[in-house]
Amino acid sequence: MCGIIGYTTKKDNAVNVTISGLKNLEYRGYDSSGIAFTTDRVNIIKSKGKIANLEEKLTQQDISSCCAIAHTRWATHGEPSEMNAHPHRVGSVTLVHNGIIENYSQLKEELISKGYEFKTQTDTEVATAYIDYCYKQTKDKLQAIIQACSKFRGSYAFNIIFDDELQTIYATRKDSPLVIGYSHEGNFAASDVSAILNYTKQYSLIDEGEFVKINKDVVTFYNTKLQIVQKEIKTATWDATQYQKNGYDHFMLKEIFEQPDVIQNIYNRYYDDCSYNDIDFTKFDKIHIVACGSAMHASLVGKYLLQTYAKIPVMVEIASEYRYAEELITPSTLLIVVSQSGETADTLAALRLAKEKGAYVVGIVNAVGSTISREVDKCIYTYAGPEIAVATTKGYTSQVAVLSTLAINAMKQNGLLDAENEKTLKNDLLNIKEKLEDVLKNKEKYLDIAKSIYNHEDLFFIGRGIDSSICMEGSLKLKEISYMHSESYSAGELKHGTISLIENGTPVIAIATNEELFEKTVSNVKETKARGAFSIFITTSAHQDYNFDEFADKVVIVPNTTEFTQAILVVTALQLIAYETAKLRKCDIDKPRNLAKSVTVE
Ligand code: F6R
Repeated sequence: MCGIIGYTTKKDNAVNVTISGLKNLEYRGYDSSGIAFTTDRVNIIKSKGKIANLEEKLTQQDISSCCAIAHTRWATHGEPSEMNAHPHRVGSVTLVHNGIIENYSQLKEELISKGYEFKTQTDTEVATAYIDYCYKQTKDKLQAIIQACSKFRGSYAFNIIFDDELQTIYATRKDSPLVIGYSHEGNFAASDVSAILNYTKQYSLIDEGEFVKINKDVVTFYNTKLQIVQKEIKTATWDATQYQKNGYDHFMLKEIFEQPDVIQNIYNRYYDDCSYNDIDFTKFDKIHIVACGSAMHASLVGKYLLQTYAKIPVMVEIASEYRYAEELITPSTLLIVVSQSGETADTLAALRLAKEKGAYVVGIVNAVGSTISREVDKCIYTYAGPEIAVATTKGYTSQVAVLSTLAINAMKQNGLLDAENEKTLKNDLLNIKEKLEDVLKNKEKYLDIAKSIYNHEDLFFIGRGIDSSICMEGSLKLKEISYMHSESYSAGELKHGTISLIENGTPVIAIATNEELFEKTVSNVKETKARGAFSIFITTSAHQDYNFDEFADKVVIVPNTTEFTQAILVVTALQLIAYETAKLRKCDIDKPRNLAKSVTVE
């Protein structure tokens, strides 16, 4: 969602630095952008659409400046337009904002009664006016921000400039990310470290209830009582090259090809990891796994493994729905939240609710230092590195990998892993890289399948058991980047209604990896074939000698592994089918329309 970067410097290049930082935040998703830079006053330039439009406008004037705040907006209140884009300016306050001020209508009424007028429909203009109003009362900037924030309900990360202090940025946050960066030439406040990595790796996290005054040579953190807070300075482990395509056409493709290393590293790191011992699976009577989108699909694979092999009942819930299961959360619940970004608002809300109810919360998170990673009782990092493409790939597979190691650990604790099975599993997990590389080699096959489906508008994925969860991820991947309508169905369920949609040529992608369910899935594919479907059948090398001619128009074979890693291999093939299809349909693969990478509003 929205991206923020502010920079105050000893030099006069604040505009160029913030614009380059803003480009590193593009992946978060946006529909307009804007910048405020100071000279002897505040200058504001905004533009609808890509950052290039903003840059074009900036070429038309002198942009020497030692202080700037810049923003990419993903519209929530008010359409994407130049007027609604940030920064907003009211009275002597200029501000950029990520998040939603939920009670803005009420605050707006209050401000209108005090004589304020508004030009936009945004909640952010109201927040700006409210800070201006408080500044007029308190005559103190930090006090004004603290007072205003105490009135705001919802989420925010702010960078603020006041007219009478043109080289200082004030920053604060609640439920939206913001970090402070330090360099020899100046200091930053940005949505995440990717925005500042070209200039520095030194950063601090802003905790909720902290207010930061950023000057070119000093940064001071305050609490709500205006006492100075000492902060730890961290060093980012990700570097700027990880934010480049490195020769690939798209970030998505690069991230798909990073999976062999990412997944192997997870298994090498966690297979025997003693730190899992502090999750005592025997202590809990149930496990809830909560996440959104692809992370929820990864959770379904985790549920299958934990239930089938560790014999623990698991409920997977979409994070935005979890609050309606409140009654089921007790102190003997183990909640596992799964999030690549670690900032997803719905997942964060779910974890907070569960903690209130006394549950123990484990997080499976990629972004180090993110809000979710800091609020869980125990965080297991996936260490997948930055994921820039909006559609997750290595984010999803790394979540599955960590969940599979958790399931193995639970099996050990429950006495359900004998020496022979342990040997098989260890061998499988510790040799996954080569098998994943094999899946990646099949480029021609994926392109061939893409050519056979890309001019259709409807498509079905079917599978049983673990394959049905894999189908959900394959279907989401295809629809989000290629804009094809696709549905994922349990193979046995299709004939209870949906099969009426199958007509001549309708593509059906069937997944059959599970040995015991193979024949049943084949029967379901035959049912669709008999109604004219064009069938693409994905299975493992264990079935490579099967006679597919009768029911499959195209066949993909992935290496056969245990169920602990099989989903990772199949989904990688599905990612590439989605990628090639979206490419043929000439879609904006890395930044699909309407989507944001980090969904920081509920
Ligand atoms: C789909 C996708 C989303 C995310 C979801 C959760 O490709 O990326 O469905 O999986 O928004 O995001 P995180 O994992 O950051 O909580």
